[in-house]
Amino acid sequence: MKILVIGSGGREHALAWKLSQSDRVQSVYVAPGNGGTARDKNLINLPLTDVVQLREWAQKEQITLTVVGPEAPLALGVVDEFRKHGLRIFGPTREAAQLESSKAFSKAFMVRHAIPTARYESFTDALAAHDYVLKHGAPIVIKADGLAAGKGVVVAMTTQQAHDAIDFMLGGADTGVQHNGQARVVIEEFLEGEEASFIVVSDGLSSVALATCQDHKRLQDNDQGPNTGGMGAYSPAPVVTPQIHAKAMREIINPTLKGMANDGIPYSGFLYAGLMITKAGDIKCLEFNCRLGDPETQPIMMRLKTDLVDVLMSATQSQLSAIHALHTKDKDSSKSDHHEKTAHWPALDALELDWDRRPALGVVMAAAGYPQSPRKGDVITGLPSDQADVMVFHAGSCTVDGAYKVTGGRVLCVTALGGTLKMAQQLAYSVVEKIHFDGAQYRKDIGYRALNH
Ligand code: AMP
Ligand code: GLY
Repeated sequence: MKILVIGSGGREHALAWKLSQSDRVQSVYVAPGNGGTARDKNLINLPLTDVVQLREWAQKEQITLTVVGPEAPLALGVVDEFRKHGLRIFGPTREAAQLESSKAFSKAFMVRHAIPTARYESFTDALAAHDYVLKHGAPIVIKADGLAAGKGVVVAMTTQQAHDAIDFMLGGADTGVQHNGQARVVIEEFLEGEEASFIVVSDGLSSVALATCQDHKRLQDNDQGPNTGGMGAYSPAPVVTPQIHAKAMREIINPTLKGMANDGIPYSGFLYAGLMITKAGDIKCLEFNCRLGDPETQPIMMRLKTDLVDVLMSATQSQLSAIHALHTKDKDSSKSDHHEKTAHWPALDALELDWDRRPALGVVMAAAGYPQSPRKGDVITGLPSDQADVMVFHAGSCTVDGAYKVTGGRVLCVTALGGTLKMAQQLAYSVVEKIHFDGAQYRKDIGYRALNH
C-alpha cells in the first residue's frame, strides 16, 4: 500500500511515523511534511498543498489511503474532492467539518441534539453583544466564529476584556479569522473544571476511542502566559476515569455521530471533543475539532500498538462500499481499485485497540517569539539519533543542506514513554535539554496535573 498524509505539523509526523510501521505499507508520503519527516528514512516528503493537485497526484500514484491531519484542508473540502474521484480518504467532508470550522454551527448542533455544552448566544451585532456581556457579567468567554488557529477564543476575566474582545472580533478589522464574509461571535458561559482531549475514530456510524490525553495550552509554567495550540501533552489522562469515559461516549460522542447522520451529514474521521470535567463529575463539550489534536497525537501514537492502517482501512470501509455502489450504478467500475473490492476489513466497532500500558509524555519546543510572532531561521542542533522510547517529532522545521532550521511556531515535540508518567517526563526532558536552537521556549512542568492527581 501507498499512503498519503496531508499536513506538516508534529501531528502529521507522528501519524506518518506510526503508519509507516505497518507491514502492509510500501511507502508513506507526507505533503508537504517538515524537517523531521524529511529526516525519517521511511517517509517521503511531497511538496504539494493544493487540494486538486493532491488529488491528481494521488490518482496517478494509486494511493490506497489518504489521511488528513489539519483542519484547513478539511474545511476546503479535500475529502469531498478525493471521494468524488473514487479515492479512499479518512476525514470529514467539508460540511461535516463545520463542527470545528463554525462555532455557531457546532453550538446550535449541540443544543439541537441535547449534547451538554456551555450556555451561549451568537451575535453579528456588536451592540447586542455588548449588552449581553453587561447582562451576564464576567468571567465570560468570547469566541470568534470561523477557523482561527487557536487564536479566536478570549476567556475574559473582566467585563472590560470581554468588551475589548467583541470590538476586536466584530470591529471590521482583519482579525485573521476565516469566516464566510460575516464576522460573528459566540458568547458563552464560563465553565470551571479540568479539561481533557477525548478523541475517537469514526466511520460515520460507529466509533472507537483513542487513549485519553491532556494538553497544556498556556505558553508558560503554571498555566501562565498566552494561549497556544499546545505546549505539551500526555496520555493517559487520569481525570478521565472509566466513569467519565463511559459518560463521554454516552452523552457526547454517540449523540454527535447519530445527530450528524440524522441531519444528513454523516461524520467520518477523527473526532476530537474538548471536554470540561467538573469536580462533581459532570462533563460538558467545550468544542469539537474535526481532526486529531496537536500535540496530543504525539503521545497517543507512541502508545498505540494496533496497526493504524488496519484501523483507518476499517473506518473507511463503508465509504468505499458506497463509492463502489455508485460506480456500479454508473456502469463505470473502472475507476475503483479491484484489489480493494476483495479486501475485507473488520467493522470498526469490532476492533479493540491495544495500548502500551506505559504513559507517554511530549514536551513542545517552540520558536522565539511564539505564539505572537515566531522567529524563523534559527539552527537546530543536538537532535538525538533514534532511540527506543523517545521520539523527536518535528513540526516547524526544515532541512537546508543537511542542517535543521526553524520554520514555524511549534518546532519540535520530544515524546517519551516511561514506566511511570514521572519517568516518561524525566526521559523527555533529558532529551529536550540536549537539543538547542536560539530562543527555544518550552515549559518545565508538562504533566504536572496528572502527577498531582
Ligand atoms: P476552544 O477553542 O473553544 O476549545 O477554546 C480554547 C480554550 O479556551 C479551551 O481549551 C478552554 O481552555 C478555554 N475555554 C473555551 N470555552 C470555555 C468556557 N466556556 N469556559 C471556560 N473556558 C473555556
Ligand atoms: N491541542 C489542541 C488542539 O489540537 O486543538
